[in-house]
Amino acid sequence: MTGTDDATIRRVEREDLLSVVRVERACFDEPWSYTAFERFLGEAGFLVATDGSEVVGYTVSDVTPNHGRDIGHVKDLAVRRDERGRGVGRRLLDRALASLAVGGAHLVKLEVREGNDAARSLYRDVGFQPVRRVPQYYGDGEDALVLVLDVAEWQVARNG
Ligand SMILES: CC(C)(COP(=O)(O)OP(=O)(O)OC[C@H]1O[C@@H](n2cnc3c(N)ncnc32)[C@H](O)[C@@H]1OP(=O)(O)O)[C@@H](O)C(=O)NCCC(=O)NCCS
Repeated sequence: MTGTDDATIRRVEREDLLSVVRVERACFDEPWSYTAFERFLGEAGFLVATDGSEVVGYTVSDVTPNHGRDIGHVKDLAVRRDERGRGVGRRLLDRALASLAVGGAHLVKLEVREGNDAARSLYRDVGFQPVRRVPQYYGDGEDALVLVLDVAEWQVARNG
């Protein structure tokens, strides 16, 4: 891929799942299983970025009802190592947030490793704010930071 405009972002189909799992395994020490991804087939927030027939990244997010203040959750986001730094992660996140907004989310939350500078920088840039730390959230003992985004504020910033 030569530029970000080459990537197509669309809903994940069953045929994409093996490629998604392959990217997941290359990106994370504690990867999701095939079955874990399979549960999100059909969700508006389960999106894949493709270049031709190749999966270059994906994201998983959903909305949980919460007494009229529904909460979106970005559960997973990854871009293939050789495709990073070209805007694919940002576009995937943007599309995920748009789908969560359409799905009624007022607030979006996610967890990120404290030491994940690239992801933290992306989330900060988009408008996520840290709200708390979860000690030893990950299997290797690293803390998670919980970040939240106000959807209405994000929409105002996004639409200029
Ligand atoms: C986080 C991740 C999805 C970003 O994807 P990407 O396609 O490389 O990101 P983009 O090219 O869209 O960059 C968007 C922003 O992220 C930040 N960023 C990306 N790579 C970075 C790096 N190596 N160092 C610091 N910031 C970085 C920057 O703020 C960047 O904005 P800029 O290009 O205007 O400087 C990717 O690094 C990844 O898959 N990491 C492994 C999996 C992971 O950690 N997922 C997040 C779990 S919470």
